[in-house]
Amino acid sequence: MNVAADAFRSALRRWASGVSIVTSRAGDTVHGMTVSAFSSVSLDPPLVLVCADKASNTLSVIDAGGVFAVNLLGARQQALSNLFASKDDEDRRFEGLDWSAAVTGSPILPGALASLDCRVEPAHDAGDHVIYVGRVEAVVEGEGEAPLVYYAGAYRSLSEAD
Ligand SMILES: Cc1cc2nc3c(=O)[nH]c(=O)nc-3n(C[C@H](O)[C@H](O)[C@H](O)COP(=O)(O)O)c2cc1C
Repeated sequence: MNVAADAFRSALRRWASGVSIVTSRAGDTVHGMTVSAFSSVSLDPPLVLVCADKASNTLSVIDAGGVFAVNLLGARQQALSNLFASKDDEDRRFEGLDWSAAVTGSPILPGALASLDCRVEPAHDAGDHVIYVGRVEAVVEGEGEAPLVYYAGAYRSLSEAD
């Protein structure tokens, strides 16, 4: 049975997630995009996954470089999330950003709650996306603050009272 696309989208909107920026590097090229499709996979070995749209530019950089970093965004990084999601000036997303590199060379972004620097283990074809499983080669801990949350098409804040 085929599910209706509207019902599928509507159900997915009811899933709250954190927000990350997945960055990658291939030679002199660095790129990155906002990603909510992130999950931990395994503790031993340390594995995570991200899902990238086949139409995204980030996907071709990950394919070429075989590495990516997941930068977990804090509540105050909404503007950065929008910048890395927007198709306007997509080649200028890193301008003015004081990013660094850990082990793989993928950009580690300032202000992230934590960053996971990964080498692609396998990649899996999955419909209009590719699932990248990454072995975590370095963890960079950032400043502790509340996470940026995305739910029902909008950014939210976590409240202790809720
Ligand atoms: C909150 C949020 C979450 C997103 N999550 C994903 C995701 O998990 N995977 C994905 O491929 N795109 C995701 N996107 C869309 C990309 O960030 C967007 O298409 C971006 O412009 C792609 O950039 P690129 O083509 O330069 O790589 C998300 C956007 C937003 C605002």
